[in-house]
Amino acid sequence: MRILVLGGTGWLGSLLASEAVTRGHEVVCLARGESGHVPDGATLVHGDRSTVEGYGGLDGDFDALVDVTRFPLHTRTALEALGSRVPHWVFVSSCSVYADHGTPGADESADLLPALEGDEWSMEVYGEGKVACEQALVEALGADRVLLARAGLIAGPGDITDRTGYWPLRFAHPASDDGAVLVPNAPDLGTQLIDARDLAAWLVTCAEQRRAGTFNASGPVQLFPEYVETVRQTVGHIGPTVLVDQSWLEEQEVLPWSGDRSLPLWLPLPEYAGFMTRSSAAAEAHGLRTRPLAETVRDGLEWELRTGPGRARKAGLTPTDEVELLGRARP
Ligand SMILES: NC(=O)c1ccc[n+]([C@@H]2O[C@H](COP(=O)([O-])OP(=O)(O)OC[C@H]3O[C@@H](n4cnc5c(N)ncnc54)[C@H](OP(=O)(O)O)[C@@H]3O)[C@@H](O)[C@H]2O)c1
Repeated sequence: MRILVLGGTGWLGSLLASEAVTRGHEVVCLARGESGHVPDGATLVHGDRSTVEGYGGLDGDFDALVDVTRFPLHTRTALEALGSRVPHWVFVSSCSVYADHGTPGADESADLLPALEGDEWSMEVYGEGKVACEQALVEALGADRVLLARAGLIAGPGDITDRTGYWPLRFAHPASDDGAVLVPNAPDLGTQLIDARDLAAWLVTCAEQRRAGTFNASGPVQLFPEYVETVRQTVGHIGPTVLVDQSWLEEQEVLPWSGDRSLPLWLPLPEYAGFMTRSSAAAEAHGLRTRPLAETVRDGLEWELRTGPGRARKAGLTPTDEVELLGRARP
């Protein structure tokens, strides 16, 4: 097949392109070339999606397209430039499209956020932006030409958000001299992630099969303590874990999920009880397969160590902050 990847220089897009090349497809990627390189075997066509003219370097028709954009403007320009030249579109959306994150086990029929209007975009309206992209695609192409993949937390080697590498790295190299690690006491919190390589493989299969529909795409749900235990065992952590309650972490101004002074994958309850406990049953019934968490953890750690464990992170506690917090948690 001749497959067009809109993107291909970022993390997931590059894996997608690589997977499609490995399967013998002709792969063309359209991007500005600012985020990185496309994988060997794929062709990069330089273009800026801010305008329809940005697609001018693309020749001919394609059998399928995969798009990773967050910007409704990019969806609209792509539709105008390529709507009549590509029969099947795969769009990487997000579970952030949902209005409610408090209900465990919700499927694709859950209520959505309102679609973003206009082109003023920021991370605060990430979910609304994805809704606008989804709606524009279905409206322009019809539901039978579009696959909407609402990804959960994407994990594994290459995680440039610094979230899923945090725990493997911290348990492998604790900040404290006695090997202690600060861990939220969250026995009822569900965790759910999908290895980027598994997501890429399934998306390429969907493109090959011209599968249409709307699917949550994530892995199995585990309770947070089980997740922590899998990480500890995989990286061989033998020090103590120091459990601290949600209210204590809030008092210490530790953020959930992401950002400076945060603990990734930890989310406050009850409002986020459904955030990482969504049903991906429909995607599983249509071929989504996920590898064991231990493999994602092991490879994620290897990537963290290779890319510099001391670098500034977008998520997690610095070793200094963690040692200070441990001192307060067990004076
Ligand atoms: N991380 C998560 O846990 C998570 C969870 C759910 C869903 N998602 C979704 O997963 C996807 C991740 O994609 P990704 O890893 O490939 O990363 P990304 O950083 O979102 O990739 C964006 C791509 O678009 C290209 N691009 C950006 N602006 C452009 C422009 N003006 N013109 C042309 N190309 C442009 C970039 O290339 P250039 O900069 O080279 O132009 C890059 O290839 C996104 O859709 C994200 O919303 C992520």
